[in-house]
Amino acid sequence: MAHRADVTAHRGAVLHFRSDPGEHDAPDSYEYWEDGLLLVRDGKVEKVGDWAALSAGLPDPCNVVMHGCKLLLPGFIDPHIHFPQTDVIASGGHNLLDWLEHYTFPAEQRFADTTHAREVASFFLDELLANGTTTAQVLGTVHRGAIEEFFQVAKDRRLRMIAGKVLMDRNSPDDLRDTAAGGELDTRELIEKWHDNDRLHYAITPRFAPTSSADQLASAGRLAQEYPTVLIHSHLAENRDEIAWVRELFPDSQSYLDVYDRFGLLRERATYAHCLHLDAQDRRRMAASGAAAAFCPTSNLYLGSGLFDIAASDAAGLRFALATDVGGGTSFSMLKTMSEGYKVAQMLGQRLSPLRAFYLATLAGARILGLQDRIGHFAPGTEADFIVLDPAATPLLARRSAQALTLSERLLLLLVLGDDRCVSSTYVLGERVTRNS
Ligand code: GUN
Ligand code: FE
Repeated sequence: MAHRADVTAHRGAVLHFRSDPGEHDAPDSYEYWEDGLLLVRDGKVEKVGDWAALSAGLPDPCNVVMHGCKLLLPGFIDPHIHFPQTDVIASGGHNLLDWLEHYTFPAEQRFADTTHAREVASFFLDELLANGTTTAQVLGTVHRGAIEEFFQVAKDRRLRMIAGKVLMDRNSPDDLRDTAAGGELDTRELIEKWHDNDRLHYAITPRFAPTSSADQLASAGRLAQEYPTVLIHSHLAENRDEIAWVRELFPDSQSYLDVYDRFGLLRERATYAHCLHLDAQDRRRMAASGAAAAFCPTSNLYLGSGLFDIAASDAAGLRFALATDVGGGTSFSMLKTMSEGYKVAQMLGQRLSPLRAFYLATLAGARILGLQDRIGHFAPGTEADFIVLDPAATPLLARRSAQALTLSERLLLLLVLGDDRCVSSTYVLGERVTRNS
């Protein structure tokens, strides 16, 4: 058997981000080599740069993989997605509350069955990887057994994943409710077992304020204090009826955001999906806490929830990253998610540049999840979770990308016309993992 070196040089176009390109594509926010090298040793990035400058100094022996003019990028990071809603995607439902009651809760009830949970977790992770997403922050259901299955399947695949059992003790069907005490106990035991277990992390996950009692939110806040490195994950200000309901349920709170703040649930590594209907004061307050928003354009459009205000978030210094929110969201593809995000910005007379869209699907997610030392970019020492995108994956893309010249134009084509067909390969810790390999 031929000796196989544990070091591999990947040659192709290479793009990664160092910071937020912002509205004007700050030139020092990214690095791009049209003929680049990504050198991977033992599952980690050893070097990144220009092929011509670095190839003479490659180690010997060294595997070399030629990707032609395909684009190497850090794996996509999806900071808000529901694994039990894989079977809900593209269900009807006029708006959030109606969709939850008629489609989502019935689908989630099936996760009392751990065999079902394991099968769905496996399909879900196949789907993420086929779409180039190597890390996600994942909601489970109320069932402890279901999220344990998810963690185990993710661990078997050596993926960096964040997940949590959903806390919900009211305003939901009988068999989808826990109790404040029971949810706290389960969460504590799950944190002890899974947080920082290999590449896994735990997120304390109250579904949203309407389905948790004040006692339950208080217990979530206590857990957050007790475990400062654990993440927090929930929904905020998605839909106007939801917001009115929160006002009724928590009459003493100044706003929806204030509910979470009062219970100690705003801090670094806390992610709130949607954040559509916030005022400037709440955006600033949220930004100051270190919490971040997940911008879920396909879901916000599909459920008619509203348009995420990028400019207002920037003005407040509120950090955000792109997320799919499957199954309210309509695609596992971060490329399609970027495309819808781009259109949302257009509807508000704002701008989401292609470069910034790719930032929001990679490094931005790592940053809001507190994982930027490990994933989301190609600095030496980071984990080699990366993808190879084919800018000519379809006849139309091939035709259009033969005409395009600049990097921004190429990225715009990929995000507007692309989907999982463009993801030629997904690598986890330097190993190619996609189904069709
Ligand atoms: N708010 C509370 N639960 C959910 C959910 O499952 N999906 C979405 N989009 N919003 C929610
Ligand atoms: Fe969601």
